[in-house]
Amino acid sequence: MMGLWRIHKLMNPFPRVARFTVEVRDFGCLKTALGWTQDPVLDEPYLFEYAGRSDINERRLRDAEVIAGACCNGNPEILLEIGTAAGQTTAIMAMNAPKAAVYTVNIPPEHIRQGGKLVTYAPKLDEIGSYYRSRECPNIHQILANTADWEPDFGPIDVSFIDGCHDAKFVFNDTAMILRYCRPGSILIWHDFCPGLALTSVQKANVCAGIEKLFRKRILRGPIYHLRDSWVGLMVVDQRYAGMGIQARGR
Ligand SMILES: C[S@@+](CC[C@H](N)C(=O)[O-])C[C@H]1O[C@@H](n2cnc3c(N)ncnc32)[C@H](O)[C@@H]1O
Repeated sequence: MMGLWRIHKLMNPFPRVARFTVEVRDFGCLKTALGWTQDPVLDEPYLFEYAGRSDINERRLRDAEVIAGACCNGNPEILLEIGTAAGQTTAIMAMNAPKAAVYTVNIPPEHIRQGGKLVTYAPKLDEIGSYYRSRECPNIHQILANTADWEPDFGPIDVSFIDGCHDAKFVFNDTAMILRYCRPGSILIWHDFCPGLALTSVQKANVCAGIEKLFRKRILRGPIYHLRDSWVGLMVVDQRYAGMGIQARGR
């Protein structure tokens, strides 16, 4: 007979994610919760396009509100994106923090087989960052690397957007690695963080599984804010979990 714990696990495969996720009604409420005062600049035309069901309820705009909101508040100096692709989000980050340095990492095409399995997009070399180059953002630094064997040589990182390989193992390792370069109050944002869709999307299930493990191993602590209709989760790094790399590298 199936044990009670197994039934519970089947019904609730990510109990810590469920416990720590805070659903936020709208961007105004997120601003209040995080003490933000600034509204981001969000006028890139692609944010208003609808290419299919995944864009329902202005999902692109909701994602961008969270990511750009984190960039235009709190005067961040160093931003990191894992997974550049064409660089649409990179551009939004750079435009909303023009004084910051934005580092964006993408696996080079010739190494794609050494990356994980859940790779939504494998851009050719000239496609990586093509969007942000067309927007002429001077504060972006492109890094070509597989995050499985890459570490930053900069820090502390104020805002990170984690959107590379979506295998649970990569979500876990990318986050744990970034945490070592965070300070208390740094912001982590995961794409495809959407617990309500974890049963129907292998990517979203993997992102939840990676984050569940981070909670289970006590590498992460505290609430993850999920803006309604978005596919992103945001966490403010707790001082107990910010990394050891900071003292060594400093500002
Ligand atoms: C979903 S796309 C990123 C989208 C982009 N962040 C945006 O918002 O427009 C994921 C990207 O991560 C890259 N990627 C996948 N595995 C990676 C790895 N192990 N290291 C670095 N980049 C990786 C892929 O090549 C792809 O371009």
